[in-house]
Amino acid sequence: MNVYDSHKMADVMATVGYSLTDDYINADMVILNTCHIREKASEKIYSELGRIRQEKMRLETIENRKMTIAVAGCVAQAEGEEIMARAPFVDIVVGSQAYHQLPELLAKADRAANRAIALDFTPQEKFDALPHSSQNPGASAFLTVQEGCDKFCTFCVVPYTRGAEYSRSFAEIIDEAKRLADSGAVEITLLGQNVNAYHGDGKTLADLIHTIAELPQIQRIRYMTSHPRDMQDDLIEAHGNCAKLMPFLHLPIQSGSNNVLKMMNRKHDAAFYLDIISRLRQARPDLAFSSDFIVGFPGETEAEFEETLELVKQVNYSQCYSFKYSPRPGTPGAVMDDSVPEEMKVERLARLQELLFAQQLAFNQKSVGKIMPVLFDRKGKHEGQLLGKTEYMQSVHLTSAPEFFGAIAPVVITGAQQNGLSGEIIQNNMVRAA
Ligand code: 5AD
Ligand code: SF4
Repeated sequence: MNVYDSHKMADVMATVGYSLTDDYINADMVILNTCHIREKASEKIYSELGRIRQEKMRLETIENRKMTIAVAGCVAQAEGEEIMARAPFVDIVVGSQAYHQLPELLAKADRAANRAIALDFTPQEKFDALPHSSQNPGASAFLTVQEGCDKFCTFCVVPYTRGAEYSRSFAEIIDEAKRLADSGAVEITLLGQNVNAYHGDGKTLADLIHTIAELPQIQRIRYMTSHPRDMQDDLIEAHGNCAKLMPFLHLPIQSGSNNVLKMMNRKHDAAFYLDIISRLRQARPDLAFSSDFIVGFPGETEAEFEETLELVKQVNYSQCYSFKYSPRPGTPGAVMDDSVPEEMKVERLARLQELLFAQQLAFNQKSVGKIMPVLFDRKGKHEGQLLGKTEYMQSVHLTSAPEFFGAIAPVVITGAQQNGLSGEIIQNNMVRAA
């Protein structure tokens, strides 16, 4: 969602004459868009700000040009005043629901030696105010349909930084999807912190998916991130009856232990989750799953951790994200005793990841010998290199066929690694080296 928000900020700034640059050290304005979800992500911002400050000082002293520095996103939302106090060179602090105000904030910060801060929660106002994008969305586009969360998992800052659950209007989302399709998108990923809680204008996420599937240019639809409690019947059925809905689902459970799930306030147990997985597999037998896991939640015992390993074995994931628990300011978890020692968190994470990585490699190895459609949506670091994704979200690298950029092409898979696949493009009966 930060990628989506960053593009939207660029759209907003385009209305006052700014354009994107890769060369931040000479930029008139630098916006640092930040993430507050885990300790590690939010720690980075002061070191990043230090680097940006060097460039600001160089521009101002040597070239006599101003560089405006803005801090946006969830760290700004949660710690805006603190950023202003700790980093006097920051001109603007703008929260995740207020970035449509950037031009006004810039004007305010430009007047005399003013600084500007906006941390209001106005998602409706934000979406209403955002201009249509003039940027090329690329082959694979993001589309925010919902923001915020009312679930209040005890470890999570999202309900505080992104605010209450808010669903955008159905018509507005379909309009944005049409514009994305008309400007070249072939894949749309519907985004929201709790995306399957979508209920705009009495419609469901499944309604959105079916309507977007009618757009002829759109070949692939995905959505993330979902909560197990919001996997309604029509969404499960969509996996069986909407061919454009991709056979890959990120459905986090966080822990396999009922006791830990309760302490996390996840509002369901392991059996409930496993039942949803099995119903989804009935609807779409080849559906691949991923999840997020947290190890070392306060009070997690060795036996409870082992229940997570058991659940992972039962589900058999195609890929996953896993994290050591870190207390986040303002959450109920922050006042629980962070009782699992760091070395134990490190050890549990290593054991969990060993299992998850083995499952990922095994999943990728099953693709060898198959012909898989791959969407090449990104350019690699080297000239002519393309990066793509299979329908199951596996990464594929291509070194020698730049003409496939932005297209879906059939690839014979010849090799599998833990992190991706290699293969050869099949083109007009000709096989090209990938
Ligand atoms: N500590 C560790 N991981 C966390 N996540 C969210 N909050 C925390 C925290 N306090 C992880 C969860 C979530 C993912 C986006 O980040 O697994 O699903
Ligand atoms: Fe955070 Fe997701 Fe729980 Fe909401 S459902 S509080 S976003 S982990």
